[in-house]
Amino acid sequence: RRSSSSAASTPSCLSRRRFSSSPAPERKVAILGAAGGIGQPISLLMKLNPLVSRLALYDIAGTPGVAADVSHVNTRAEVKGYAAEEQLGQALEGSDLVIIPAGVPRKPGMTRDDLFKINAGIVKSLSEAIAKYCPNALVNMISNPVNSTVPIAAEVFKSKGVYDEKKLFGVTTLDVVRAKTFYAGKAKVNVADVNVPVVGGHSGITILPLFSQATPKTNLSDEDIKALTKRTQDGGTEVVEAKAGKGSATLSMAYAGAIFADACLKGLNGVPDVVECSFVQSTVTELPFSRPSMLIFLVTGESEHVKLGKNGVEEVLGLGPLSDYEQQGLEALKTELKSSIEKGVAFVRGN
Ligand code: NAI
Repeated sequence: RRSSSSAASTPSCLSRRRFSSSPAPERKVAILGAAGGIGQPISLLMKLNPLVSRLALYDIAGTPGVAADVSHVNTRAEVKGYAAEEQLGQALEGSDLVIIPAGVPRKPGMTRDDLFKINAGIVKSLSEAIAKYCPNALVNMISNPVNSTVPIAAEVFKSKGVYDEKKLFGVTTLDVVRAKTFYAGKAKVNVADVNVPVVGGHSGITILPLFSQATPKTNLSDEDIKALTKRTQDGGTEVVEAKAGKGSATLSMAYAGAIFADACLKGLNGVPDVVECSFVQSTVTELPFSRPSMLIFLVTGESEHVKLGKNGVEEVLGLGPLSDYEQQGLEALKTELKSSIEKGVAFVRGN
């Protein structure tokens, strides 16, 4: 049975420094929005990742300070900061992986969809630059609403003739990180041994953790499972409210984003059986789209993840057996997910 890379092995960025005789291949990673709440800690974590040889930090404000600061850390990656829009091309050129945490975060009372107006435009223009300067790079989309920003990037890439569904990922790892933490706490098992598949999208009820497939198996009650499901779905809001107007998850998000980016780099480097969850285009579930080419679904789990390889997604694995409760959740999320996807597509197509 395949296991999740995040469950089975320590991410390169968090492992002890290795002094291997054969260095990892050269890999350039660009972070767009690098001076933000997520951008700063994820820049640090990618600087700690021995798989990264060049780290390009781009933001429209505050980049020089962050780049100078991170560059002093004595690890492999050579850091450069890019501060203005005219430097975006240089930041992107030659990138193997682009991580996008650019955009505004939620404040209390806001849904992720409330961010659409501002972030849709940011993601569209950054995607246009990626299409121009590094069309072959893997793209890790963190900016919310992920359910719409991934389709936005896909549509931009299609319009530029560079779309490859194997290379575009919505980063939903934080939902898995939360589900694992909450499950371990409730079931009183070692969190390091826990794996929980999460399917759907990345917003409210579209986040569907599959606790029936969680390992190690425990016998939590139906009420416990419902409470864990709700807490995973509301995990982001828990942080937004605790921060009381000062933004959303940044530190746990940077951790989750670094795990996912590490998995992508391992896949590019030919490490076998790298399996992670992500919001990607697939045909695992037939959503009743008017445009069947945009079947996007988050596929996760011990045997239900995206298998990453040298070209990005190597294989999208199935959802696995669902409990009745999860099956209901899956049916219930389709309407919202479909409309978020369509909203993203319409934004780019101008209809
Ligand atoms: P922040 O406001 O602290 O940082 C955003 C950064 O983006 C700022 O430094 C800003 O200057 C920069 N930026 C704005 N427009 C830009 C552009 N056109 N090009 C480059 N940089 C630009 O926000 P934070 O907390 O870092 O959140 C960033 C995004 O991540 C938000 O959309 C938030 O909703 C999302 N998020 C996603 C999660 C996920 O699980 N996928 C979890 C938490 C947040």
